[in-house]
Amino acid sequence: MKKNFICSVCGYVHEGDAAPAICPICGVPAEKFTEQLVEVFEDGEMGKLAAATGLSAEVLAKADSIVAKYPQARSATLPLIHLAQENLGYVSEAAMKWIAAKLEIEPINVYEVVTFYPMFRLEPIGKRHIKICRTLPCALRGSYKTMEAFEKEFGVRRGHTTADGNVTVDFVECIACCGTGPVVQVDNKLYEEVTEEKVPALAQKIRESLNDPDYGKKDPDFKNRAEWLG
Ligand code: FES
Repeated sequence: MKKNFICSVCGYVHEGDAAPAICPICGVPAEKFTEQLVEVFEDGEMGKLAAATGLSAEVLAKADSIVAKYPQARSATLPLIHLAQENLGYVSEAAMKWIAAKLEIEPINVYEVVTFYPMFRLEPIGKRHIKICRTLPCALRGSYKTMEAFEKEFGVRRGHTTADGNVTVDFVECIACCGTGPVVQVDNKLYEEVTEEKVPALAQKIRESLNDPDYGKKDPDFKNRAEWLG
C-alpha cells in the first residue's frame, strides 16, 4: 500500500507519510489534504490486469508513452479511458481496474470519471454507432424526428443497442456541422441534412455496411459533396 495526500481544493497529489505544510499549487494548508491509501501492484500482477483487458501489446505500449508525458501519472486518467474505449468500444470493468493500477489510483477514481462524461460507455457498443446531434440548431431542423425514425427503423430505444448487437443509437451534442442539420454520424462517417424522410435510405445503407470492415474509416473526398455526405 502507498499513502497519498490529495489537496481537496486543486486535486494536487502528494506522495509520502504526511501532507505538505502547504499545497505547492494552490497554497492551502495541510488540513485541506485528505489521505488516500492506494494498492501498488507488482509487475506480474500488473501483467495479469493488463491481459484481462483484452488490449493488444501495441495499445498497452501506447498507454506507457501517454503516461510518460504527465508529471503526475493520475493526470493520464482521461487519455487512458479514451484509449480503452477506442480499442474496446467501451470502458470495461477490467480496463478501469488496469488504468487504476497503472496510475496508482483507486478504481473508483476511474469509474467516477467514466460516469461523469456522457461520451464514455460502460457497455459494449453495436457494430455501428449512430449518433444524432440534438443541440439546438439540429433540434430546430428536426433531429428529434430523425431520432424517432431511426428508433423505428431498428426497433431500438435511444441509448440502447439492438438485440443482435448490430446497431447502437444515441443522441450526442454538437458535432460542428450546425448549418446543415440534422447531422448524423455513423461511426466516424458524417451525414448531413438527415431529415426523418431520409432515414429509411440511410438505415438501409447502414445495414449493408455491416459486413464492410472499412466502413467509416476512409477519409471523405471533401471536393465531392456526394461522397462527403455519404
Ligand atoms: S448543432 Fe448539430 S452539429 Fe452543431
